[in-house]
Amino acid sequence: MKFIDLARTRYSVRSYAARPVAEDDLNTILEAARLAPSANNAQPWYFIVVRGEDARRAVARAYPRDWFRSAPVIIVVCSEPSAAWVRRDGKNYSEVDAAIAMDHITLCAADLGLGTCWIAAFDPVTLSEALGLPAHVSPVVMTPLGYPTDSPPARKSRKPLPEIVRYERWS
Ligand SMILES: Cc1cc2nc3c(=O)[nH]c(=O)nc-3n(C[C@H](O)[C@H](O)[C@H](O)COP(=O)(O)O)c2cc1C
Repeated sequence: MKFIDLARTRYSVRSYAARPVAEDDLNTILEAARLAPSANNAQPWYFIVVRGEDARRAVARAYPRDWFRSAPVIIVVCSEPSAAWVRRDGKNYSEVDAAIAMDHITLCAADLGLGTCWIAAFDPVTLSEALGLPAHVSPVVMTPLGYPTDSPPARKSRKPLPEIVRYERWS
């Protein structure tokens, strides 16, 4: 698929079939995440794949929604801020890097006919406990992964280019 069509095709899926995700497809998606760029190539990330019934239930306690719990796979993108590139003014890029990796995950999944939905509105303490994360690793964003059972909704509106693009300078 052409990239622009892929970007148009992906949408947030909030309804999943129980059908397991093919191992090859999961590995392709993880490879897409691995290939993501990161500041100074620091790769300050971990990808936690949650498939077991009990493990998914524990993770869903951090984001209690039936549609989320029903997906056969959850991928949690975690960052290790102490491993990330830090700009001179102190800005740590670990979350930017994690977000790029998640974008690779969601777009690669869409290319394979699989659904995803970025989830940030979770309880980080509950999620870290459910995953047994060490203190130096934080969950940044997660997604269910599976076959959609809904139909693509009408495209969510986006701001028109003239409203968000400036050329050369702000004004
Ligand atoms: C950083 C980020 C966090 C998000 N967190 C949530 C979330 O916690 N729950 C949810 O249902 N959707 C979440 N979304 C999905 C957005 O609501 C969705 O991407 C947006 O409304 C555009 O819709 P679309 O993905 O279908 O194009 C999140 C998206 C992003 C990029």
